Amino acid sequence: MLSRYVASQVKHNGYFLLGLAVGLYVALVCVPLDDGAAETLLDCVSDTSISAAPVDDYEPQRTEARGQGVAPVAAPARSVQRPRYYSTELGIRERLFVGVLSSEEALSGRAAALNRTVAHLLPALKFFVTASATRRASLPNVVGFTDTREMLKPFHVLKYVTDNYLDEYDFFFLVGDTSFVNARRLLQLVRGLGVSHNLYMGVADDDSPYCSLEHGILLSNGVLRSVQGALDWCVRNAYSRHHHENLGRCIQHTTQLSCIDTMQVLHITL
Ligand SMILES: *[C@@H]1O[C@H](CO)[C@@H](O)[C@H](O)[C@H]1NC(C)=O
Repeated sequence: MLSRYVASQVKHNGYFLLGLAVGLYVALVCVPLDDGAAETLLDCVSDTSISAAPVDDYEPQRTEARGQGVAPVAAPARSVQRPRYYSTELGIRERLFVGVLSSEEALSGRAAALNRTVAHLLPALKFFVTASATRRASLPNVVGFTDTREMLKPFHVLKYVTDNYLDEYDFFFLVGDTSFVNARRLLQLVRGLGVSHNLYMGVADDDSPYCSLEHGILLSNGVLRSVQGALDWCVRNAYSRHHHENLGRCIQHTTQLSCIDTMQVLHITL
């Protein structure tokens, strides 16, 4: 009696049961339990055939390669364009990116010393140098530009940083390699700042409207975003011998901001 009842139910609801079984199968195949969940989940959603779903074909690319004019390795065709970091997708940004304008010669001396003192506190620390094509800098946190026009170096840095990190950090700190950076102080300062403010902060030398690079220049995400759209103007209007003047002119042109002197707020470098 019971078996006949079950059999008739199965007969009537055959399609429903089949659907249920397929649904369970898909759910089990497509929802992995490891960290790669988000990646593979989207692969499944975008793939029409379940069996062909790759487990995880995502390969992180070294961002350094881009700044050096190396063509990025062609990624396999994907139907869904993913940001490089989960944090980007989730709208979570890290606090601070630090870029040091340095030179190849200084890499084994000044820059290395600065690196030793602050790298452990500042995970996002990059050194920007002009590197000869033959002797590319090979250290992990060094970015080499082949353009030898020293005047344009800050704008190569801005281009590189906006291309690669704009969505990942709230604040950007640029500094020369001759400075000692008090990383703890800097982090403390940045933690206390609201990200919604347009910030062009640093120490201006006497009667200059521009922050000096020696004392470091702190930019908020919004300011860097504005500058990104005006880089052409900035490059065309770079004529000073001093980086901080070209930078400052560029920032003032795009945001109408003058350097806010941090001496009034807090020392950001010592
Ligand atoms: C900075 O330090 C890190 C780790 O301590 C190292 O991997 C990197 O090569 C150093 N960079 C420079 C420019 O010295």
